[in-house]
Amino acid sequence: MDALAFSSPLGWLCVGVTVLFGVTVLHRAQRSPVEKANVLIWSLLPALLGLLCGATLGTGGGLVAFWVVCLICSAYLGGRTLLPVGDRAVLITGSDTGIGHALAKYLDSLGFVVFAGVLNKDGPGAEELRRTCSRRLSLLQLDITNATQVKEAYIKVSEKVQNTGLWGVVNNAGVLGFPADGELLPMSTYRQCMEVNFFGAVEVSKTFLPLLRKCQGRLVNMSSMAGGIPLPRYAAYGASKAALSMFSGVMRQELSKWGIKVAAVHPSGFRTGIQGTSDLWDKQEKELMENLPADTRQDYGEDYLLSLKSYLLHMPAYCDADLSPVLGAILHALLAKRPRGLYTPGKGAYVPLCVFCYFPLWFYDFFISKMVSTESVPRVPRTAEAESKNL
Ligand SMILES: NC(=O)c1ccc[n+]([C@@H]2O[C@H](COP(=O)([O-])OP(=O)(O)OC[C@H]3O[C@@H](n4cnc5c(N)ncnc54)[C@H](OP(=O)(O)O)[C@@H]3O)[C@@H](O)[C@H]2O)c1
Ligand SMILES: *[C@@H]1O[C@H](CO)[C@@H](O)[C@H](O)[C@H]1NC(C)=O
Ligand SMILES: *[C@@H]1O[C@H](CO)[C@@H](O)[C@H](O)[C@H]1NC(C)=O
Repeated sequence: MDALAFSSPLGWLCVGVTVLFGVTVLHRAQRSPVEKANVLIWSLLPALLGLLCGATLGTGGGLVAFWVVCLICSAYLGGRTLLPVGDRAVLITGSDTGIGHALAKYLDSLGFVVFAGVLNKDGPGAEELRRTCSRRLSLLQLDITNATQVKEAYIKVSEKVQNTGLWGVVNNAGVLGFPADGELLPMSTYRQCMEVNFFGAVEVSKTFLPLLRKCQGRLVNMSSMAGGIPLPRYAAYGASKAALSMFSGVMRQELSKWGIKVAAVHPSGFRTGIQGTSDLWDKQEKELMENLPADTRQDYGEDYLLSLKSYLLHMPAYCDADLSPVLGAILHALLAKRPRGLYTPGKGAYVPLCVFCYFPLWFYDFFISKMVSTESVPRVPRTAEAESKNL
């Protein structure tokens, strides 16, 4: 081994640059609130590699190898580096329960000025936030489908952030509706999903954009896996989320000229309030049944219709109770120097999207039918299958 590399001036230059790089990275790490350990590894790695290369390859080869490593690391770090929290203010809609609720607590604990929009200001979710969060957090009565409430929330927020502007808006509020075949879903489910998941998010975004523009902030839309790829039983919900995702994409392009960065999040399943309660399911099932024409009802069969609810019963088993992947994705969207346009946190959120994007449709449909194999089949296809077996 040619350790003499260090006796030449170039060798020392190499060591000097390594140290400088390390110090810069460490300095950045101190300002960034999370992932300090990761940044430490990424600063030590090029330093060690640089020394190793200098020692083994000799000065010339060592320098080249070292600079390549530095370049890769800084490109990688650039994507990971988070801006300081400072006094950045963020509005979250739908903070009563689930992801929005956890996000409000998480951002509050990191030092953000949080505006937590809640559907019910006197509800248990709001009460809990009032009790556990710092005084930086303000609760806002905000039904995103109510134009008056959106305006009132805007006035309250703009009074409080007069000088600094609003850094982020997280369009989180959403409803799932009853997951069932698109043919069976009542029109009211389609309308309600569009009303909350799409029109509500559009109205909130449009209203708050002037405040975001002030500080070139971030818009984060909680879409869904079901908004990126077709999934059985999610006709209403998926269509409303697809509309939201498409809007996010267009907004990303249009708002970049204002320095506003837009991200969409497509989580897979997480255990939250969105799966609903058995009371709600009963109500939704009743509404679905009442709106079914008699022949549709007969074709699908009573057994099948009554089994729809059991899908919801089993849903929690597939859903992750740990929300931290989603929270991490939203934090990255809010604070990363270079946020991504699309995040896919959660088990099984990415692979189906890839299959959908890169494979023929027939293969995607086959893949999904295996992934979400539903035990129950409507009456008519079932009897047809039985008859063909009997032949
Ligand atoms: N959990 C998942 O697996 C999953 C997967 C993909 C995408 N997402 C998306 O992530 C977001 C958060 O969902 P989550 O799982 O946390 O569900 P969640 O627990 O039901 O949270 C949604 C929140 O939005 C509120 N809300 C409903 N209608 C509203 C309205 N008109 N105005 C204001 N707030 C309203 C709900 O209030 P109430 O509780 O009082 O109704 C609830 O607090 C949703 O957009 C959802 O589509 C979730
Ligand atoms: C909208 O919000 C306002 C103010 O909170 C309330 O008075 C009104 O009844 C709401 N409208 C609807 C349709 O819920
Ligand atoms: C979110 O979607 C709404 C429309 O649904 C759009 O107006 C807004 O700009 C989008 N924001 C982001 C950050 O995608």
